[in-house]
Amino acid sequence: MESSFISDTDTVAAWRDALDREGRRVVLTNGCFDLLHVGHVRYLQEARALGDALVVALNGDASVRELKGEGRPVNTAADRAEILRALACVDRVVVFDEKRATRVIDAIRPHLYAKGGDYTPESLNPEERAALDRAGSEIRILSLVPGQSTSATLRRMAGDGDKSPGTGPRLAILGSGHGSNFEAIADAIDRGTLDATIAVVLSDVADSRVLSLARSRGLPALHIEPGSERGGRLGDAALKEIADRLKSASVDLVILAGFMRILRGPVLEAFAGRILNIHPSLLPLYPGLGAWRRALASGDTETGCTVHLVDSGIDSGAMLAQERVPILPGDTAETLHARIQEREHELYPRVIAAHWAGLMKQG
Ligand code: GAR
Repeated sequence: MESSFISDTDTVAAWRDALDREGRRVVLTNGCFDLLHVGHVRYLQEARALGDALVVALNGDASVRELKGEGRPVNTAADRAEILRALACVDRVVVFDEKRATRVIDAIRPHLYAKGGDYTPESLNPEERAALDRAGSEIRILSLVPGQSTSATLRRMAGDGDKSPGTGPRLAILGSGHGSNFEAIADAIDRGTLDATIAVVLSDVADSRVLSLARSRGLPALHIEPGSERGGRLGDAALKEIADRLKSASVDLVILAGFMRILRGPVLEAFAGRILNIHPSLLPLYPGLGAWRRALASGDTETGCTVHLVDSGIDSGAMLAQERVPILPGDTAETLHARIQEREHELYPRVIAAHWAGLMKQG
């Protein structure tokens, strides 16, 4: 990255050592800092006040695009760095192109690391947290200025910053695999039969089809590292990251579409009554994995699909709608699942619209 406002990481590391010898403390923070707003400025001033010098590790253009979607960043890394360096509170800017700031943390070994938002040291990304532990960095969580974000600024400029009744919801789609329900929802939006916006797509599987489909539609699509808890449970850092991504994308409804993990804690609390799931059975029959296979193996003559609200159980929340599907002689697991999915693709967009209309009516 060529810019006189961007410092080389090794040079900053050497500068950090020189300051250290003088007993001075270096603060590091990282972020995209696209379209600077007053929230950024106050945050950076607060971070700088924690030590004697502030280094900003800036997400490179490719990583901003991955985090925020096509059309972002608005400003190139070179321009963002120049703007940051014009602030009295910013001493150095380095750029990193990976998703995480781990390499920069390892190189610069800050005395103090500042992070914005409602993180706790435990819910920081485990890789970054391990790098901070290696460096012996103190971790400080700074509060963000409510309502201030680049995404909100862009929405205000586009004229759809305020959510008023009658405006479609902003959706987050969470999926682990094939993504056919995601496609059905996105197609319904494109056709105009579902008034909604897909604000972000999240997946616990890095190479899932749902993420590549979302990216090919120019939507923000992010892999969330699920953690290594037993039984496929989402770790605290993953739950925190999901909750933060949903909030920063100003999401109204969370749509689980083949998401094979159980949500709990911060996500359920923040979006109570606003998380929907689709399940390929007539619940309460056959919750859990491979529901259609179990319906077939039991010799049932019909099955179906259910859209329900999500609680802390497995496919157990209040039901919103069901569609019945006959099990035909000669059906295999594949033919049956394909027929159920046809119904799912028609049912899910309809239920999303109806649920949102209900929430709007309640005010
Ligand atoms: C769908 O059939 C959905 O009902 C099921 O996973 C499939 C995902 O397909 N969900 C569950 O079993 C949840 N317990 P997709 O990725 O093509 O949308």
